[in-house]
Amino acid sequence: MISYIYKKIIKPILFQYPADDVHTFFLDRGRMLGKTGFTKKLLSKILPYKNIILKQNVLGMEFDNPVGLSAGFDYDADLMDILPSVGFGFHTIGTVTNLPYQGNPRPMLDRLPKSKSLLVNKGFKSSGIDFVLKKIGKKRNSIPLGISIGATNQSYESIEAMALDVYRCFEKSLTVDYFDYFELNISCPNLINSQNLKEKFDDPIGFKILLDSLSKLNINKPLFIKMHAEKSSEDTLALLEIANNYKWISGVIMSNLVKNRENKSFDKDEIQKAGVGNFSGKPTEEFSNNLINEIYKKYKDRFIIIGTGGIFTGTDAYEKIKRGATLVQMITGMVYEGPSVIGKINKELALLLKKDGYHNIKEAIGTKKY
Ligand SMILES: Cc1cc2nc3c(=O)[nH]c(=O)nc-3n(C[C@H](O)[C@H](O)[C@H](O)COP(=O)(O)O)c2cc1C
Repeated sequence: MISYIYKKIIKPILFQYPADDVHTFFLDRGRMLGKTGFTKKLLSKILPYKNIILKQNVLGMEFDNPVGLSAGFDYDADLMDILPSVGFGFHTIGTVTNLPYQGNPRPMLDRLPKSKSLLVNKGFKSSGIDFVLKKIGKKRNSIPLGISIGATNQSYESIEAMALDVYRCFEKSLTVDYFDYFELNISCPNLINSQNLKEKFDDPIGFKILLDSLSKLNINKPLFIKMHAEKSSEDTLALLEIANNYKWISGVIMSNLVKNRENKSFDKDEIQKAGVGNFSGKPTEEFSNNLINEIYKKYKDRFIIIGTGGIFTGTDAYEKIKRGATLVQMITGMVYEGPSVIGKINKELALLLKKDGYHNIKEAIGTKKY
């Protein structure tokens, strides 16, 4: 019923407006609704789906369900109060950067509905870590809360200077105790911050410089590296071979946006008209799924995998889990299907698990054989 109302009434109205404005509208409404106990109670009654089969403890964190909000939707921590009532199992804010950056010129977002994709051109828009920490203040989440951290989108003299910027952002985030996990974003395509540098954070030399720098901090919570979608499995595994030397790296998030416009998931007309930016949703799915396979095959539970990219249904989420993901994250499916899709995905997932004879989601991780 809620899904019907969203798709037939709310979405057609919202989709008349520029995507940037609708995103801001959602953040404002979400922040407002989160303040009223009545709305939260009401939403908690109708949206989330709970089932013990979906519960798991991962790296010391309790997840009621495996579906989280990906980095890039709540970049300034506006939704902490409302998200648990929507039914998400965990919540990443950010990507947050050390210094503020106003983002690229609009449009930073656009829709490709036939391709089930969003065009993203935010360029690490962030109010900066100081602002975000102040905004969170005394608020606390009832679901695991993570922060995604990346390098401020400005030019740097050297890769060491860029690593220091990321270090500073982590250093500040470690002064508070409310983040349950960290994400290190090395994979946002099309940023200006490394354009003039020989090394990048996503090549082995730059990656090692970044990790050596962060090693000086005592990162005592699980940290996940957000990886590229369009790198070959050899290049991805080469980065993980380096990551494997740093025991404080707990896992990887597979994966970020795509930029190749030849991708067969795009509707031809839509992609021809698309502006500057990178893409989420269905065009990312195959890349993410294939890399999850490769990483799980090689590393099993050395790296906990969070699968993201193109999840619209319980079957999509289950595919990532069977390939080796322990948890999943999403944005685009929620934009197209509405907030009730989170509960729907969890319900479908529970049914699929039961149908395959599992008693808990953990038993299904990595069971698909190739
Ligand atoms: C509007 C938007 C903004 C995003 N910004 C970020 C970001 O700041 N940091 C990040 O790690 N990923 C970012 N992403 C990528 C998502 O976290 C996710 O990896 C990707 O969209 C695939 O998931 P989906 O198909 O469910 O959207 C963004 C995605 C979208 C749609």
